[in-house]
Amino acid sequence: MVARESDGKIGLNREQVGDDFLGEGDVTIKVHYSSANYKDALAITPKGGVVRNYPIIPGIDITGEVVASDSPDFTVGDLVLAHGYELGVSRNGGYAEYSRVPADWVVKLDGLTTREAAAIGTAGFTAALSVQALTDHGLTPEDGTVLVTGATGGVGSVAVDILAGLGFEVVASTGKTDAGETLAALGAKTVIGRLPEPETKPRPLNKTQWAAAVDSVGGASLAYVLSSIGYGGAVAASGLTGGAAVDTTVLPFILRGVSLLGIDSVQLPIARRREVWELLGAELRPEHLDVIESIAPVTDVEAVLHSIKDGTHSGRTVVQVAGAF
Ligand SMILES: NC(=O)c1ccc[n+]([C@@H]2O[C@H](COP(=O)([O-])OP(=O)(O)OC[C@H]3O[C@@H](n4cnc5c(N)ncnc54)[C@H](OP(=O)(O)O)[C@@H]3O)[C@@H](O)[C@H]2O)c1
Repeated sequence: MVARESDGKIGLNREQVGDDFLGEGDVTIKVHYSSANYKDALAITPKGGVVRNYPIIPGIDITGEVVASDSPDFTVGDLVLAHGYELGVSRNGGYAEYSRVPADWVVKLDGLTTREAAAIGTAGFTAALSVQALTDHGLTPEDGTVLVTGATGGVGSVAVDILAGLGFEVVASTGKTDAGETLAALGAKTVIGRLPEPETKPRPLNKTQWAAAVDSVGGASLAYVLSSIGYGGAVAASGLTGGAAVDTTVLPFILRGVSLLGIDSVQLPIARRREVWELLGAELRPEHLDVIESIAPVTDVEAVLHSIKDGTHSGRTVVQVAGAF
């Protein structure tokens, strides 16, 4: 599926391209699955800000099977994944039958199928990084409730699942009024609306409500969350669906010792990336992927990406590539 720009619009269409279109790399992967992320939606949005040059094959997640390797670390038949770095934004991504990538971007699958790894994908990986950042900060279930914003989104839903699995009491914040049952099935104890509530006046400090938060919304939501975290708590911030600008003050930091933990999945060095994927197949494994996951053939991915951009999408959509063209 090749994204091309013309007259300020971006089209995403099925094309047959030659092997040289895949570019350089030590490892060639027959793609089984990709997935649909917010960043993939931006890749086909005019002025989306993530792709510099078209044409490109989008798809920031790739899972599949090695079919050729010049690297001693990978052999034909290995089940692997790759995501982040330049994939799907300045180098061709996963919405194609084959992908060629540098060996030091590739992770061998351990404890997860290619479909499970795609269901987790970049969004779920970011959720795992966020939870790890909070527990590395010292957060334990005894500290109190943990808020997850954008809770039906990819990052949010996997974060709810992982946190609940680790024994945390999770408060899920969502704009979708019909999402209560699904979020409860993932393990959320309480479901609330988007933050801040419409009539709330922005204040530097509010009543403390949560010990910590996983926030992929940013904007006014993040400002409100920072003002409501308890003493010594932390917010793992990864996203900007609610806006990039955060209007806050230093007061939560200097009067309550609150920490703002930045989460980046894109440039994360490969050694740490491999460690976190190993955890995702073991102790951080999301237990309710079946609740979160839907599947779409790669030829239908454009409609899924539009639903992500307009905020109506829920959970994680696995994009079936092998056999779907
Ligand atoms: N830092 C990183 O490495 C990294 C990695 C992955 C993703 N991200 C970023 O994290 C964010 C979420 O990614 P995703 O793939 O999880 O996207 P997603 O599946 O589209 O989820 C985003 C969720 O945010 C909420 N939302 C949407 N529009 C909103 C608005 N205008 N105001 C407030 N909430 C809104 C919705 O949840 P509810 O309807 O439940 O409220 C939506 O489901 C994106 O900004 C993405 O770029 C960053």
